[in-house]
Amino acid sequence: MNRRRFLQVAAIGTAAAAVGTVGYTLAIEPHWLEITARDLPITGLPASLVGARLVQLSDLHIGPQVSDVYLRESFARIRALAPDIVVVTGDFISYFEERGAAQFEHLRSMLAEFPTGRLATLGILGNHDYGTNWRDVVVASKVVAEAERAGIRILRNETHAVNGLDVIGVDDLWARQSDSTRALNARSNDAALGLVHNPDAADKLAWPDYRGWMLAGHTHGGQCKAPFLPPPLLPVENKRYVSGAVTVDDARTLYISRGVGHLIQARFNVRPEITVFTLRHRTDT
Ligand SMILES: [Fe+2]
Repeated sequence: MNRRRFLQVAAIGTAAAAVGTVGYTLAIEPHWLEITARDLPITGLPASLVGARLVQLSDLHIGPQVSDVYLRESFARIRALAPDIVVVTGDFISYFEERGAAQFEHLRSMLAEFPTGRLATLGILGNHDYGTNWRDVVVASKVVAEAERAGIRILRNETHAVNGLDVIGVDDLWARQSDSTRALNARSNDAALGLVHNPDAADKLAWPDYRGWMLAGHTHGGQCKAPFLPPPLLPVENKRYVSGAVTVDDARTLYISRGVGHLIQARFNVRPEITVFTLRHRTDT
């Protein structure tokens, strides 16, 4: 092969790889759900909850951008796991003003197949659940109504006890609805688990005397990232908050879900995620 022919073949190969990568990013990875599994150690966890299965779903973004078929299949996979507790860490919907009431009917039909937990199904709102500019409380109230119709109890700066485990649900930071102090004041048990949509809430809100894990979403893991590099688009101030387990300080650890859905259908090296936690008794504190 002469040099010119070699360069032609190399160019064709590079173009094919680029087309393949774009196709993968747009068509395959956004719906290639990974069900991740890990332990969740909780201080003071009641014996009856040791070994219980808690599933976190985040950032469903129900709406025109996320495939209904993909979401329903994801729900079915979780239902088959027979979870004890299910939590949703916000962004049930992607809201579009021009779609009007139909999007809440769509939300209702999707959530009718939502997998509920044997003991409890809890959730919090994300910024997208507050509609335009994250400020529309009427949109939020409709999301809450549809979630609760589907058996998901939405915690708005509240604590809900599940067999001796306090699940502390803080409302959304960007919607300016967060009141962690109020949520924490309602605690009645030693064992606790925090829910925040935006991981920046770990730094920006008061968490007096709170020790333990906080489950979050919001980042979608950055959606696209080159290997060994940080994702270029990350909607948080604290750029350490990308995905997975992140130490906040000596008292608190975040788990940031990569989320189920997306805003733009593109993921690269950041597969969508549903996390299955096994509750454990934490003994080192
Ligand atoms: Fe989101």
